[in-house]
Amino acid sequence: MRNSVFAATSTLALLAAVSVSAGPQAEVLHWWTSGGEAKSVAVLQEEFAANGGTWTDMPVAGGGGDAAMTALRARVLSGNAPAAVQLKGPAIQEWFDEGVLADISSVAEAEGWDKVLPASIAAHMKCEGSWCAAPVNVHRVDWLWANAEILSANDIEMPTSWAEFNAAADKLQAAGVIPLAHGGQAWQDATVFEVVALGILGVEGFHKAFVELDPATLTSDKMHAVFDQMRKMRGYVDSNFPGRDWNLATSMVMNGEAAFQIMGDWAKGEFLAAGKVPGEDFLCASAPGNGFLYNVDSFAMFDVDGAEKQDGQALLAKLIVGQNFQKVFNLNKGSIPARVDVNMAEFDSCAHLSAAEMTSSSKEGSLLPSYAHGMALRGAQSGAITDVVTAHFNSDMSSDEAVTMLENAVRNSL
Ligand code: BGC
Repeated sequence: MRNSVFAATSTLALLAAVSVSAGPQAEVLHWWTSGGEAKSVAVLQEEFAANGGTWTDMPVAGGGGDAAMTALRARVLSGNAPAAVQLKGPAIQEWFDEGVLADISSVAEAEGWDKVLPASIAAHMKCEGSWCAAPVNVHRVDWLWANAEILSANDIEMPTSWAEFNAAADKLQAAGVIPLAHGGQAWQDATVFEVVALGILGVEGFHKAFVELDPATLTSDKMHAVFDQMRKMRGYVDSNFPGRDWNLATSMVMNGEAAFQIMGDWAKGEFLAAGKVPGEDFLCASAPGNGFLYNVDSFAMFDVDGAEKQDGQALLAKLIVGQNFQKVFNLNKGSIPARVDVNMAEFDSCAHLSAAEMTSSSKEGSLLPSYAHGMALRGAQSGAITDVVTAHFNSDMSSDEAVTMLENAVRNSL
């Protein structure tokens, strides 16, 4: 009898201890499901666990995050927001305006984020002066990736203008090689479009078109030329492109099925995860044109009840901006750290190019937010532009018609 009472008491004590020590918890919604992406997010999961956290994974597959954002809306509308969400650019402010974001200023201040983050990145993470998101990295969007062997076998250098790109693509096509690996999904069409647009409109024109939504620029001759070049791009992709995921397009370059891909440097995460070496197996270069299109991944914390969840949010925010995570995550992800004080010695030549050009673009005023990756515009406006881009790419619409449609779509979205 004594023994069983003792046993029952100690079981209760054990249960109490278990619930007390459940520790920081976080349900994390993200769209990092490709090979390179999964390896990268595992770095955060491991660091969270090593610091006593319990991670509940909520991955929503779909490059560019459109499906993840739909899932998020459903969760918030049902009053059950995940604790931490991969969210970026003006979408952070949109959710802040809905009154559902947690304030993480106490972590940011304790960790001195203002001292280690560039002001332009910090600005995206603040909502009316308080910190509402934690930045993970800086991805660059305007990259050209190539299969090194295909280029050398066809005596082709990395193109430095769109005319050179077209000449190279024509030559490859004549030799029976698919010039451009592409996946026909709206966000991928938008990615190619904004990279072409940066090259043709220039830095100022890009800003006027996709940040200021200036009607004169949206209907300019140069915008016609952007759609003309998009029509050429359509001719350089293979017939199986519709619906293809971006990482499968990257594999085509990796495996020698296609020569080039235009994609942000998360593509480098795929090359690296497959053991490919930059400069040997694959080449990276900034796409033709000046400027630097940035895309900063970040996590916003949503209002949740319960000390364990709130502790989880604080721990996660602290780790995300921590020096170790910023290094190891970005070595895997293909991006560069958002913090300025991370030792870059272990990073490859593509990352060094990105870091150098980000610094020079920042000085020259040519650092531009990516519209295709949700850094420049709110959802209604970027969605309106992408609808036109993808309608043009997937039909025989003329550049004239596309420009008229673009002007109308943007006006109606305001
Ligand atoms: C995100 C990247 C991600 C890519 C493909 C981009 O919008 O910023 O982190 O790897 O989409 O899913």
